Amino acid sequence: MRAAAFTDLVGPEGVRVVDQPDPEPARGEAVVDVEACSINRHDLWILEGDSAMVDADDLPFVSGLDVAGTVREAAPDVTGVEPGDRVVLCPNETCGRCRFCREGPENMCERFSLYHGGLAERARVTADRLVALPDGVDTTTAAALPTAYMTAYRMLRRADVTTGDRVFVPGATGGVGVAAVQLCDALGIETVGTSRSAAKLDRVREVGLDRGIESADTDEIEAAIDEPVDAVVNHLGGEYSNLGQSVLRRGGTMVVCGRTAGGTSEFDVADLFLGHKRIVGSTMGTQSDLERLVAFVEDGRLDPVVDETYPLAETGAAFAAMQERESVGKLVVVS
Ligand SMILES: NC(=O)c1ccc[n+]([C@@H]2O[C@H](COP(=O)([O-])OP(=O)(O)OC[C@H]3O[C@@H](n4cnc5c(N)ncnc54)[C@H](OP(=O)(O)O)[C@@H]3O)[C@@H](O)[C@H]2O)c1
Ligand SMILES: [Zn+2]
Repeated sequence: MRAAAFTDLVGPEGVRVVDQPDPEPARGEAVVDVEACSINRHDLWILEGDSAMVDADDLPFVSGLDVAGTVREAAPDVTGVEPGDRVVLCPNETCGRCRFCREGPENMCERFSLYHGGLAERARVTADRLVALPDGVDTTTAAALPTAYMTAYRMLRRADVTTGDRVFVPGATGGVGVAAVQLCDALGIETVGTSRSAAKLDRVREVGLDRGIESADTDEIEAAIDEPVDAVVNHLGGEYSNLGQSVLRRGGTMVVCGRTAGGTSEFDVADLFLGHKRIVGSTMGTQSDLERLVAFVEDGRLDPVVDETYPLAETGAAFAAMQERESVGKLVVVS
């Protein structure tokens, strides 16, 4: 089979289509004919050599978490899926033994890791991590869901927001950002988002953004937010954390899942305790979150934004578009 492998950790030009042996399912596993796999900034970190998870010794490395397709083969002990089933993968890898695996939520597993291998024609996966796709949900749309939408959904749950609240989404045009905006819109929550691009903000307005601030200057953004927000979906980190804390209302919650704009942030301690604010970390979501998201798509409440699809041979171009910050929503590699 063909795979779009990272052969050099130098950015998009390090992606090559290589031939690899066809995968065989081991106990508890299935092999999926991959029809679509969305990319995430997580894959780009790896490709740019900025992830502790993959180094030169691991090359060629096949990334890709968000797999959707059709089951080709299942190991004899697998009972939950069979060849021909249309599925999307929950990329969570958990130990099944720690207290979070036993009591939930599973995404807090003490040995939590992520599946990689979807940027290929076939993927060998844990069968129990496959979520069935209803007829009305196509595989390109489904592939947009796992990492970005599951993470945004869990962040909103952690922020405990409800209809009528206001949420600030700095960086509202990417995978997690657009997902947060659309989920808020579906829940009747108002959103304020930012981007350095007016054109990209216009497109996010079309899918539910209430107010867009075109700026990359955190002081300017802070000045533009005249009314404090109930929660912040912060996938940028760096100085956006200070900004998020500043615009948070008394008792509000900022949920942090990423570090695109910087791996360290400073906090105004007095503002934190005097304002009774909460800052919480969050990673991915649970498989039941993903099941719910699939149901939201099926019943028409959610229509994930896929900006562009790329054939497997053009996976490098998909990463270049992400690196250049050209896209809105998700980029999906299709076979
Ligand atoms: N912990 C988790 O489980 C988890 C899960 C998913 C994602 N994440 C993290 O969340 C972040 C977003 O992931 P993603 O896949 O949604 O990425 P993405 O699609 O590439 O995000 C693009 C968004 O980020 C903004 N952006 C990019 N670089 C920026 C910079 N240097 N300064 C300010 N804004 C910048 C873009 O703003 P413009 O519109 O101005 O270009 C755009 O709104 C990443 O850090 C990722 O690792 C974490
Ligand atoms: Zn565990």
